[in-house]
Amino acid sequence: MNIVQLIQNRFQDALHSLVADPGPLAAMVRPTQDVKHGDYQANCAMSLGKTLGKKPREVAQEIADGLDLGDELEKPEIAGPGFINLRIRPDWMARQLQAIAEDERLGVSKVAPAKNYVIDFSSPNVAKPMHVGHLRSTIIGDSLTRLLRFLGHTVITDNHLGDWGTQFGMLLYGYKHFVDAKAFEADPVRELARIYLHMRSLMKADEDEEGNKIPDPVAEAARQETAKLHAGDVENVQLWKMFMPACLEEINVIYRRLGVQFDHMHGESFYNDMLPDIVRELEEKGIAERSKGAMVISFGAKEPPALIQKSDGAFTYATSDLATIRYRVKTWNPDAMLYLVGSPQALHFKQLFAAARRWGYGQIELEHIAFGSVLGEDRKPFKTREGGVIELGALLDEAVERAGQVYEQSRKESLERGEEIVDLGSEERRQIEEAVGLGAVKYADLCQNRLTDYVFSWPKMLAMNGNTATYMQYAYVRNRGIFRKGGVDAAKYRNQPPLPKIDNEHERALAVQLLRFEESLLAAATEYQPSAITSYLWDLAKTYSGFFQNCPVLKAESEELRESRLLLCDLTARVIQKCLELLGIRTVERM
Ligand code: ARG
Repeated sequence: MNIVQLIQNRFQDALHSLVADPGPLAAMVRPTQDVKHGDYQANCAMSLGKTLGKKPREVAQEIADGLDLGDELEKPEIAGPGFINLRIRPDWMARQLQAIAEDERLGVSKVAPAKNYVIDFSSPNVAKPMHVGHLRSTIIGDSLTRLLRFLGHTVITDNHLGDWGTQFGMLLYGYKHFVDAKAFEADPVRELARIYLHMRSLMKADEDEEGNKIPDPVAEAARQETAKLHAGDVENVQLWKMFMPACLEEINVIYRRLGVQFDHMHGESFYNDMLPDIVRELEEKGIAERSKGAMVISFGAKEPPALIQKSDGAFTYATSDLATIRYRVKTWNPDAMLYLVGSPQALHFKQLFAAARRWGYGQIELEHIAFGSVLGEDRKPFKTREGGVIELGALLDEAVERAGQVYEQSRKESLERGEEIVDLGSEERRQIEEAVGLGAVKYADLCQNRLTDYVFSWPKMLAMNGNTATYMQYAYVRNRGIFRKGGVDAAKYRNQPPLPKIDNEHERALAVQLLRFEESLLAAATEYQPSAITSYLWDLAKTYSGFFQNCPVLKAESEELRESRLLLCDLTARVIQKCLELLGIRTVERM
């Protein structure tokens, strides 16, 4: 159910007699922020008035007179300088809600034509623990995947692991010199992490007092180990093969916990054998050229060239990304490829896409879905108190632990208020804390415009009130509680839903919100912005709260009204649950 689309189509028809190309004017119909101005508003009469040399109010009246209201619109109202305010008819909304209640997809139709997407996300450099910087790509990518799939698109997810880079040179060198064999046998992941950190500490001091680089013998030796690995050195390749399962297990633990899955994990190493051929092909086609012994792709005088083979023969990040594009197109034939990578890599992707277009991949939508950084309370990159990077595993543990504290606190407060509280078993409690803790972290990230930086704040993200996962999960639980308390089986409102009564302003507001579900998902998909889903959820939750405070449900005046309101409650719970699911956030039935 896409109301805005429906109204835009009606405007399109009405505007035909006034302009040649009504599309852009019709697209100016928007949902309003305040019901005073109707549910939707069109402001096209203002710009059209200018073109036609007529008074906007007159033009507005003319459009309104020609508008086919169907059975969904009330008679439009002209306001101010020429706004057309539109209200949805409650009887029509009631019929739509009844139909949506029976629909597993909650009224969201599948898009046509569906696209074939490849989404490249998470893509950490393995062999070092995942840190907070990997959070955004992972959870925004996961959410977009869920959203696009729900809308009917095909999505292939591919985790482009950094599994071939300089960090392996560090591990190789470190392993050869410092491994504790017993520790490696007992727990390879931990031992590799220790070796990595040890190597980093050795490689730190590389500037003298005047800021001159001091040649660092360890760093140089590690670089040589990387070069040997890339050249196929038997010992190094063997060690690499031995390290990889441990590195993968380390990140898979995090993915399992976050509920994130990938169809493929073709890391950089996967493309290694293809790289000489890529460089040859690009040179043959005149896209790349030799410059001072290296191979580069140029982008004019104003931009630095992209290096695809260094003078010592080594290939680069860009080379494997070019190979990746060719492989993906050949294998999956996508319409679009999305790269979820932080804003600092903007130039890399700009050049990559430009090169790909020259190479003949111009028909594919290539998009860098960039995002800002996670900051600490001091507005600097988020670090531990000691100044180290925050490991993702530890961060998630802390989230769950803090969720437990919030839970304990609210339980105490409920007891003090003399409320009845359910005693939950330890397993159920653990699951709730996990859902609330991880949900808080995910939601706090997803509710931001992805392009801006945001400050990581525990109290804010775990607040029981406000635009947080905790609030949404709690709203869901309270809603389910109504059904438990009344001994009502919600299945009835899905199998044989009654026709709801949309009489007072609260019921009306809730109905409008419920019918806006598809509209908001489409907005999120068009902009690749999960925050459009959280904004919608927030509006829905606020409207529901207004409804709930003002409209008795179990104690409604009549049986008919009770049935109607139970239907609205059930639909709200289902929409909240679906939105959270699309954000990768779990709901629980009770807390
Ligand atoms: N591993 C890279 C990094 O940590 C991100 C890779 C993103 N994906 C890609 N196809 N370049 O910076």
